[in-house]
Parts: sequence; C-alpha cells; structure tokens
Amino acid sequence: MTPTRIWLDTDPGFDDYMAWLLLQAEPRFVVDGVSVVAGNAPLARTLSNALRIKALHGWATPVYAGCDRPLAQAQVTAQDVLGADAMRSVGRKLPAAEAAPTPGHAVDALIHHVRTHPGQITLLAIGPLTNVARAFERAPELPGLLGRLVIMGGSTDRGNTSAVAEFNIAADPEAAAQVFESGAPVWMFGLNVCRQVEVGPEHVAQVRAGGRPNALLFADLLQAYTEIRPGRNRQALYDPTPVAWLAEPAWFGMEPARVDIELTGRHTRGMTVCEFRVPARATANAHVAMHADGPAIMAWALASLLRTL
Ligand code: BDR
Ligand code: CA
Repeated sequence: MTPTRIWLDTDPGFDDYMAWLLLQAEPRFVVDGVSVVAGNAPLARTLSNALRIKALHGWATPVYAGCDRPLAQAQVTAQDVLGADAMRSVGRKLPAAEAAPTPGHAVDALIHHVRTHPGQITLLAIGPLTNVARAFERAPELPGLLGRLVIMGGSTDRGNTSAVAEFNIAADPEAAAQVFESGAPVWMFGLNVCRQVEVGPEHVAQVRAGGRPNALLFADLLQAYTEIRPGRNRQALYDPTPVAWLAEPAWFGMEPARVDIELTGRHTRGMTVCEFRVPARATANAHVAMHADGPAIMAWALASLLRTL
C-alpha cells in the first residue's frame, strides 16, 4: 500500500505532540514535513517543543519555523491553560534539544512541497491557520493542488476560547476565513466531535505500564493534560482526532456544510458558522465531522502509542 503523504502544520502543545506521534506510529502515513506556527505559545516556544519532540524520537522529518503572529489581530496563546511551555507535566519534561530548524521559511517550504507533489499531499493543520493562509496568499493555485486539507478547529456548537469560538480559529480568524473561502478541499474536525474522544486515567495507566523512558515521560505529560480542568481527570482529545479519521474514516460521521468564519460579531468573533442546508441555502465548502466512535479511537491510539513509545 502506498503511504499517505502528510504535511503537518502545528503549534505544539501536548495534543499536537500526540497527533504527531500517532502519525509517526502508522506505517500507512509518511510525514514529509512539519511547519510550526505560533498558537498554544509564542513561536519560539512552539518551535522549541517541535525540535525537542523530533530530537527525542530521532525523527528525520524537516521542521520549519513559520509565522510568529496572526494576520491582523493581537496574538493570543493558550499558556494560561497549558502552562508557559504549553507542555504541562506531572513530572518529567521534554529534554532540551540543540537542533536548529530546517533552513527556510515554513510557508515557502509548504508551497514548494505541494507544488512538487500536486494532488498528493494531505495538509493536516492543527494550529491557528496563519501559515496556511500565508501560503494561499503567496501561491493562489495551492488550494487546488492539495489532496486534502484536514483541519482541527472550529465547532458546530460550544467554543472553548469564547462561548462559540474554538482556539485555533479565535487565534487568527482572518487566516481561517481566507482558508475556508479558498476552495481547498476542507475536512473540519471541531470541538463538537473532538469532545466525543476522551482521554482519562485508565489511558494514562496503560501508557505508564509501557515502562520505557519515553512511555514514562509521555505518561507524565498525558496525566497533566487529563488534569487541566480543576477537579476533573478526563479531557477531550483535539489534535489526535483528525489523525484517527485519516487512519479509519469509518469511525466518523461527516456532513457537508458551508462554513463561514465570523469576523465582526461582538460576542461571536472567531465562530465557525455552519450552514448544513446545502446545497439548498448555500454551497458547501467543507466536510464537517459530527460523530466519532470515541472508544474505538482510544483503543487504536493506545495501541499505536505503546508500539512507538
Ligand atoms: C486546539 O487548541 C489548542 O490548544 C490545541 O492544541 C488544539 O489544536 C483545541 O481548541
Ligand atoms: Ca494544536
């Protein structure tokens, strides 16, 4: 079987790390390149995390530094929730890495790679969409050259950054608007579906039982992630969820929709407004994930992690 070629656009972040691990664990995927963007933390930190992850696992994947600020608005991060390093831990930390990023800007590298492999690349975007929007600005043909654009972002119902806005969209709504209006073949995995995939103490215990140094480190990070919300020890898995769809689409229910990004609302800026009455009321621009088989996804994710860590 020919592996699926993936370009990962990311702002690590613990759940970004887990998504990347799952991609690397599956022989059916090959990660051709990684573009890092500011999001969960400023770029210096998300880039440092990406380089630490790459060094820890000895991966050869090129890692490029991307955009350090949103297109128009002031920068927001998730450090208030995820910690200053966006990698909270109950013990062990990702070791520092000496490695430098691959030379060149992430946006140029992404454009070059997609142009070189027209129709073949799945772009998996699990951070604010700044790098992707900049790439589409500079190379307007790019949306038509992508095999798929798979996004973790948005929501069909409640938000997390605001009542209705999800973090990756709220962190750069202008970029998200450009991307959803670009004509790219978008698959959207929002909070509504990621909240159906929960990680809890039983998963932490399974990873910890793996026993090897990388499993113990990952268990410490995973446990801190499950305990993000005071008084709770279960948490929705965001960025790994679209990876599960890439591995097994049958675990998901998708619906076509027209997704527009609210840019001006006083209470609703950054909302993904989803019109499901397509084509009657609007032309669809995305496939939106609505249902996920959480237990099946977690069983797969745990088996994959334990194979790798
Ligand atoms: C998204 O925001 C970030 O904090 C996570 O890494 C994920 O990409 C969830 O809203
Ligand atoms: Ca992310």
